[in-house]
Amino acid sequence: MSQSTLADFMKEYKQKIEQKLRFYISSLDSPPVLKEAMDYSLQAGGKRIRPVLLFAAINSFGKDPERGMDAAAALEMIHTYSLIHDDLPSMDDDDLRRGKPTNHKVYGEANAILAGDALLTYAFQIIAQSPDLSEKEKVAIIEQLAKAAGPEGMVAGQVADMEGEKKALTLEELEAVHRNKTGRLIAFSVRAGALIGGATEAELAVFEKYAYHIGIAFQIQDDILDIVGSEEKLGKRVGSDIANHKNTYPALLTVRGAREKLKEHVDQAIEELNRLDIETALLKDIALMIATRDS
Ligand code: IPE
Ligand code: IPE
Ligand code: MG
Ligand code: MG
Ligand code: MG
Repeated sequence: MSQSTLADFMKEYKQKIEQKLRFYISSLDSPPVLKEAMDYSLQAGGKRIRPVLLFAAINSFGKDPERGMDAAAALEMIHTYSLIHDDLPSMDDDDLRRGKPTNHKVYGEANAILAGDALLTYAFQIIAQSPDLSEKEKVAIIEQLAKAAGPEGMVAGQVADMEGEKKALTLEELEAVHRNKTGRLIAFSVRAGALIGGATEAELAVFEKYAYHIGIAFQIQDDILDIVGSEEKLGKRVGSDIANHKNTYPALLTVRGAREKLKEHVDQAIEELNRLDIETALLKDIALMIATRDS
């Protein structure tokens, strides 16, 4: 599949998910400051890579990606909550996100924490109420999303990331941090798409391996961009990891070594997909895009 096909797919579904997110916030009967703070971070931009992955996974089974709209909206809400909390003074203490001042800089810490709480809980309400999913699909998706985001998933990774500021991790330990803090939500994107697309057990197993590799790759590139990236393109500060004494791939392996690891993971992700006889060109292009992205 050509670059323009992935670009077209991303453009179309980015627009659709943003419209859906706007709709879901506007339909809330909540305190205006809460709605505003939730909307502020949701609409600040962002690549929407997780929703796009979910849609691309459904698409690979020849099904209509739109059936995954509510799962994708929930996922993007949880990802956005994780960013709001990640930027708080008690965590990474960052003042720029998605090209705008961070949520707590605009709405204050209390409202930023509460906007995060609201996005997290609202996500599960949206899936539970979705008219597009069967009862069975809803329960499976809720379970998978809770596991990916919760105390054995993203939150576990964030705790390990914070604990890691006080010590040097081995490569193995660092990979575990990356897999949880970033890999798990990315893996959910692929898994939910496969579930909605009607994947067989064998296809699901291959998708899991693909997702594992692109999840690690995504965070390695995030670590690299924190050193060599452009603040303007990223919409967030560079140098945050060094300032916070974070364990990162470049800190452990140098930027060059981190790039090699990144390439290994992307190559393995694509190799996994080569085992399948369904249409995976979009998913392969997403793996390549993760390694070359500059934002
Ligand atoms: C940033 O995620 C945080 C990580 C998990 C590395 P993204 O790079 O996907 O951020 P947005 O959604 O595009 O802003
Ligand atoms: C954050 O990792 C992962 C999350 C779960 C939010 P980082 O702390 O490296 O993400 P950025 O660089 O601030 O986006
Ligand atoms: Mg962090
Ligand atoms: Mg951070
Ligand atoms: Mg980072």
